[in-house]
Amino acid sequence: MFTYDVLIKNGSITTSGDYYKADIGIKDGKIKDISDKIDPASAKEVFDASGKILIPGGIDVHTHLDMPFGGTFSSDNFETGTKAAAIGGTTSIIDYAVQPKGKTLNETIDIWNGKAKDKAVIDYGFHLAVTKLNDTTREELPELLKNGFPSFKVFMVYEGMRLEDGELMEILKIAKDNDGLVCVHAENYDSINYRIKNLLDEGKTEPIYHAISRPQKCEAEATNRAVKLAEMLDAPIYIVHVSNGEAADIITASRKHGFKTMGETCPQYLLLSIDNYREEGFNGAKYVMSPPLRDASNHKLLWDDLRLGDLQTVATDHCPFFMEQKRMGENDFTKIPNGAPGIESRMALIHHFGVNGGNISMERFVELTSTNPAKIFGMYPDKGTIAVNSDADIVVFDPDKEVTISVDNLHEEVDYTPYEGFKVKGYPVATFSRGELIAEDGKYIGEEGRGLLLKRGKPEIQ
Ligand code: URP
Ligand code: ZN
Ligand code: ZN
Repeated sequence: MFTYDVLIKNGSITTSGDYYKADIGIKDGKIKDISDKIDPASAKEVFDASGKILIPGGIDVHTHLDMPFGGTFSSDNFETGTKAAAIGGTTSIIDYAVQPKGKTLNETIDIWNGKAKDKAVIDYGFHLAVTKLNDTTREELPELLKNGFPSFKVFMVYEGMRLEDGELMEILKIAKDNDGLVCVHAENYDSINYRIKNLLDEGKTEPIYHAISRPQKCEAEATNRAVKLAEMLDAPIYIVHVSNGEAADIITASRKHGFKTMGETCPQYLLLSIDNYREEGFNGAKYVMSPPLRDASNHKLLWDDLRLGDLQTVATDHCPFFMEQKRMGENDFTKIPNGAPGIESRMALIHHFGVNGGNISMERFVELTSTNPAKIFGMYPDKGTIAVNSDADIVVFDPDKEVTISVDNLHEEVDYTPYEGFKVKGYPVATFSRGELIAEDGKYIGEEGRGLLLKRGKPEIQ
């Protein structure tokens, strides 16, 4: 009889607070021992991690797999998207389950779980995106918040998905009263419509006008409004995909005044810019996402916010569409499906441009990509750390491996990457999920459909 199913030997463990060399003994999917030297004879399988860094599995708390948008569906489903995630060092996701017209929230969970069950290969949770606040929803919300779905999403934009300010306020209050957290997509709906009308009247239809129709102030205004509504109630709030320093400053100020305000940014806002929309032909459509890419001067501001603790997480907002799908908006930028891929390269990009780039420490990298997401969304300490009794979600990271990111070496179900040609040093080379080696050297090698639906606990404000 073996004491352990798996033994990971000789790796350097990095958590959000520590950096040390030790062996890890794993049994029944859990970490059972972390010691100086564990006898290899005590384990059924031994993985040699000499020269490698062991980090907690990445947690991407903002994905859109198999999501209907603008008359089409995001091109990664729960199988392809989570396999790509696993290869890239992510072991849990929280996907946005968007309430379809006429459906209750419980039905929405069933619909989304139908998409994910037996397809996802890593563990997955759902933020319910509430698109209709009525008496049924009002009844369902407290129940769901208490029973494994402690976070909801509210869109301030998108016809058919958005809620009014009063409705946002009501959901913030329900969440506060039931230990929940509201995630908000903050942009000013009316100003976007006003600008779109003017631009289209002037015959301005190219992808760059997507960015011009929703400028930085449009996001900053809505961020301020959402944050102030939350402050009025002293309710926690989490602003998703913060794209610029001006919006981030609103979060910083709110936190300084003692409010439970948090923010997430994404690799695209740290590494790409409004200039990408000017790429030749229709290539600018690759970057049509909301909020749009901003002036590059924001990169430093956002890295500073991440380092200083003013923003708490880096997620991807992974929402891929093939160029063929993007072409729906060839003659009208408003018809380009919003979103871009990123689920596979998040860990490598944030490590390289964050840690190697001198913007954040290795420990802060772990905190932003795994520990804080786990804490904020009620998964800690099962997820988000390497500790005895935590899930054995562990990424073996080779700090010396150099990779040029390209659509040719990624596994996302889409025909481009916004990061084509980006060079990184440091890459995930093996991924364990609940003790099973599911990805190695750029290949998914785990069982099919092994991911579990995460029933999450109470959010911890960071
Ligand atoms: O453009 C984006 N971000 N698409 C996905 C939906 C959303 O707004 O998060
Ligand atoms: Zn959004
Ligand atoms: Zn999103």
